[in-house]
Amino acid sequence: MGIIKTIQKKYNNLLNLYEKNLFLENKNIIVSGANTGIGFELVKKFAIKNNVIALANYKTNNLDNINNGKIKILKNDFKELKFSEQFINEIYKFRPQILINCAAIFGPEDQELEKINYENFSEIMKINVFAPIKLINFCIKNLDLKQIVNISSEMGSISTNKIGGYYYYRLSKCMLNALSKNLSIDLKTKRINIFCIHPGNVKTKMNSGGLMSPELSAQKIINILSKNNSKLSGLLIDMNSKVLQW
Ligand SMILES: NC(=O)c1ccc[n+]([C@@H]2O[C@H](COP(=O)([O-])OP(=O)(O)OC[C@H]3O[C@@H](n4cnc5c(N)ncnc54)[C@H](OP(=O)(O)O)[C@@H]3O)[C@@H](O)[C@H]2O)c1
Repeated sequence: MGIIKTIQKKYNNLLNLYEKNLFLENKNIIVSGANTGIGFELVKKFAIKNNVIALANYKTNNLDNINNGKIKILKNDFKELKFSEQFINEIYKFRPQILINCAAIFGPEDQELEKINYENFSEIMKINVFAPIKLINFCIKNLDLKQIVNISSEMGSISTNKIGGYYYYRLSKCMLNALSKNLSIDLKTKRINIFCIHPGNVKTKMNSGGLMSPELSAQKIINILSKNNSKLSGLLIDMNSKVLQW
């Protein structure tokens, strides 16, 4: 492990030591990307004291194992960008108070400029950006919605990008960031807070070299939701609520 990664890990451990674990209760919460990684850990924690709609792609094996009756699992492949009337009605009936857009794909490792494949690109945009917009639209029809979390990435930041590359993923997260800022303005009168969160360098299917556990990242996202600080609405923040540059 390099010196910078070691320092980063020690600093994060120190912050974690002093942060109290908060929790939510009696909320209706929708989480996408719910069968693995950060999304799965969020559902696991939420399902103790809240009602959850867990959105999964095809596989639901992990969710099936933890279902305590408080989790309704809905399957949808976001790259199709098709949502049945039944799916939309389930969301509407649920009266969501919190929506967490967590599902995403990174895309192929090779995302060089000369090799851009527009079919791959549009698939990633559908999953990482267009499906979240659709879900937001389904949820805001219900007046109970109070918080939206878009799980983004510092890789979507324009000003901190020092190494280039990764066109599909960077551009999709950059658009998610722009969406979050725009939403925070348009939904202000409805008193809906939008948290656009870089969840950390987390060890998951997407990032096998991650340094943080998905369980800890999920807890930190819950801490942000519990505090529901409207001053952070429409900003890109890390899991310790530090504001990051767009
Ligand atoms: N891990 C990190 O270090 C890191 C850093 C920055 C940002 N993030 C962000 O954190 C979020 C969670 O990622 P993760 O790290 O927990 O990785 P992950 O385990 O790969 O989670 C991604 C989830 O998205 C779902 N998904 C992918 N394609 C889908 C589709 N077509 N339709 C519906 N759902 C689909 C996956 O379901 P299937 O597996 O069943 O397809 C999976 O559950 C993502 O938004 C990611 O960009 C992660």
